Amino acid sequence: MSTRNLSADSITGAVIQRMRRAKSARFKQVMGSLVKHLHDFARDVKLTEQEWEYAIDFLTRTGQKCDDKRQEFILLSDTLGLSTLITQMNHSSKDEETEQTVFGPFHRMKAPNFPLGANISKGVRGKPCFVSITVKTAEGKPMRNATVDVWHSDAEGYYDVQHKEWKGAHKMRGVFKPDSEGRVYFWTIVPLFYPVPTDGPVGELLKASARHPMRPAHIHFLVAAPGYDRLVTHVFDKNDKYLDSDAVFGVRSSLIREYKRQKQGTAPDGSTCKTPYWTVDYDFVMRPLPGKAKKKAVARKGSKTAKSGKQGE
Ligand SMILES: [Fe+2]
Repeated sequence: MSTRNLSADSITGAVIQRMRRAKSARFKQVMGSLVKHLHDFARDVKLTEQEWEYAIDFLTRTGQKCDDKRQEFILLSDTLGLSTLITQMNHSSKDEETEQTVFGPFHRMKAPNFPLGANISKGVRGKPCFVSITVKTAEGKPMRNATVDVWHSDAEGYYDVQHKEWKGAHKMRGVFKPDSEGRVYFWTIVPLFYPVPTDGPVGELLKASARHPMRPAHIHFLVAAPGYDRLVTHVFDKNDKYLDSDAVFGVRSSLIREYKRQKQGTAPDGSTCKTPYWTVDYDFVMRPLPGKAKKKAVARKGSKTAKSGKQGE
């Protein structure tokens, strides 16, 4: 097919045809669909040249806003609901398995490791909070070999990376290893609801859409273990007023818990709290990767066969 004299209708097929020699079938499928839908979108809204130029400028500025601490493209994906769509398509949880939600733009690689019971607030002021979680399989087996990465906002709704004066210090984030019961527990401060950053192109988009930028208070968790689906999730505050209008569409009912106020006295880890403090807990259930599930099913079948005295084929 010639690339000459193409019309607003024939251009789409010509572009897709030019990719026909691509080696990867998946690449051809993804890019072919992208071109088709992108062209259809432009035709559908009769995109003007000024609007197209604005879009190019918007995406350029989105990229320019990114650095090692700020990810405007993830934020764009989150606020357009694309992140939740991708999450839901790729991580369908069974009843007992913990649901996934958006990753968000504030995770940092190489957060410090902490022993169980440590305080990750690093002196940031706020309501003291004792967080207690477990990591287990659907059969209730503790997962001692998991890694639990935690991060959250402060009592004013800001992450450490948003405090320029902290000069990159890690606060309200850390990495833990569960004990033999699959438990992870630590002290921190109660997080507050917060606006996603609005000083960039995404803020512009939210304003033009007449949308608020708020996210309900939550703690982020990233739980990883060999043979299991990486769990990216939050634990939301039951009493937050933004649970039903999250700017990034990330709330799942199963991830909501009460951050309970406790009287001063002996805390769950045996320490003495001279002021009131808060507690929250959650039991994470990991989803085995498909290969692992298959192997386990085979193992179970084998064990049943052995118990019943039947010989396998
Ligand atoms: Fe967050």
